[in-house]
Amino acid sequence: ADEALREAARLVREVPDFPEPGVLFRDISPMLANGPALNAVVSALGRDFDFDVVAGVEARGFLVGAAVAHAFGTGVIGLRKPGKLPVVADRIEYSLEYGRATLELPAETLRPGQRVLVVDDVLATGGTLGAACRLVRQAGADVAAAAVVLELTALEGRDKILGEKVRALLQV
Ligand code: PRP
Ligand code: HPA
Repeated sequence: ADEALREAARLVREVPDFPEPGVLFRDISPMLANGPALNAVVSALGRDFDFDVVAGVEARGFLVGAAVAHAFGTGVIGLRKPGKLPVVADRIEYSLEYGRATLELPAETLRPGQRVLVVDDVLATGGTLGAACRLVRQAGADVAAAAVVLELTALEGRDKILGEKVRALLQV
């Protein structure tokens, strides 16, 4: 399994100067497009955690989150950017590097007391994943863990997700 993850990691593409000059962007698209790599990533994200449902963060967290949910036999909930959902159960606002953002929980999805695996593709500054965890708890559910494919450790985003188990499969 570790070997499969190492193989998967080689499919992360480094793109200089995106989205702006000086930033080295890690693009996991080629990794997700590869069957064995996706399989390794999905198994490793959910392994040994006890969860009833997966919550994936829009948009790239949807891809990974739905795959994890299916592999582990749970349902999946999309935590969405504002203005997309017809009926919102709960919402959370949070600050990003520049400005503010909002995540919304769709109605009639999460039940109080459920154990949620919060999934996203990348942990950068931690604002998004931290807010996703707070939204789950605000709705009366429990965060089983937060799991991402890739953590950009220099941004110290993990420090913003205090009190939760945080799993990152790859760290750069
Ligand atoms: C990216 C990524 C995470 C978030 C990480 O999403 O998919 O959700 O940023 O950054 P943070 O740790 O600094 O909060 P983005 O907002 O680019 O949206 P997308 O998935 O729709 O491309
Ligand atoms: N890759 C993917 N998503 C990101 C990155 C990155 O390097 N930085 C912030 N979000």
